[in-house]
Amino acid sequence: MRFPDRRAALSLLLAFSLAPAFAAGPEEVRASILAQSRERHPALSPQDLAAGAAAFDAGRRAQAELNRPAPGAAEAVEAGRKIWTRKFPNGRSLAGCFPNGGRRIAAAYPQYDPRVKRLVTLETAINQCLTTHGQPLMDAGDPATMGTVLAYLRSLADGRKVAVRATSAPARERFEEGRRLYFTRMGQQNYACASCHANHSGQYFGDTAIPSPVGAAVQWPHLRDGRPVTLQMRVRECLDRMGAAPFPAGSDELAHLEFFLAYLSNGLTIRANAWRPPS
Ligand code: HEC
Repeated sequence: MRFPDRRAALSLLLAFSLAPAFAAGPEEVRASILAQSRERHPALSPQDLAAGAAAFDAGRRAQAELNRPAPGAAEAVEAGRKIWTRKFPNGRSLAGCFPNGGRRIAAAYPQYDPRVKRLVTLETAINQCLTTHGQPLMDAGDPATMGTVLAYLRSLADGRKVAVRATSAPARERFEEGRRLYFTRMGQQNYACASCHANHSGQYFGDTAIPSPVGAAVQWPHLRDGRPVTLQMRVRECLDRMGAAPFPAGSDELAHLEFFLAYLSNGLTIRANAWRPPS
């Protein structure tokens, strides 16, 4: 994504376009964003929108077709599988920390865990397992370790429908925190995520169509230049482009944003490890 010279005109447009805050629970927020999306893109289903910029760009769509499966995806999944099944010195493994060795679980993350009173992403859950077994933690921003493990774990949920829950009061609070961050202006450009994604999805920012927030949690990790890019890594790139110091990899802020986006993707079919063009 580049910020071209034309941005002055667009930034004026963005400055006046934030939606008013919702005083509503997760389902109302989701319904309202879905309704807005239907109005903006009547010809595109939420599952179509999961393709990111390609949903609006026939050229990008053709490229994505040619890159299915994404180059590097099989290697990333295999590298992640090795880390997942590798035995710790005590004979246990990451696979042993999760039901069914981790099959299908990714569809339900992030999730609020009342035992640790925290919103748990796949990254946090993996690091909790490593802590339990006295192993060094993985950096949530590292494509070679956390990225490949998520490529594998998410591939085990391919074809499942996203099903994150925000029914308990603490989970609803975390969702609201994610929504608030999404609609809060940050950084030197004074943009919120919503300035671009919610209100200008489908419009061109430079030479890239702006993806919709609907479906944003379906295809990750993305494969770019053969390397897995997790949702959190991608969000950090947008923050950087906004002139905001990106929240640290593995931070609660990124977890909240991911929870919000994942909730908007509820009911959509997971297609992990999809191709995205080099940035
Ligand atoms: C100035 C406009 C702008 C802002 C502000 C912005 N983004 Fe983006 N974002 C983009 C564009 C453009 C892309 C597509 C890049 C591409 O695919 O080449 C993108 C891509 C993404 C993607 C990947 C979508 C996909 O499926 O490929 C996610 C997720 C995302 N942004 C989330 C966020 C979040 C969360 C924030 C706020 C922290 C944010 N963005 C702020 C413009 C923006």
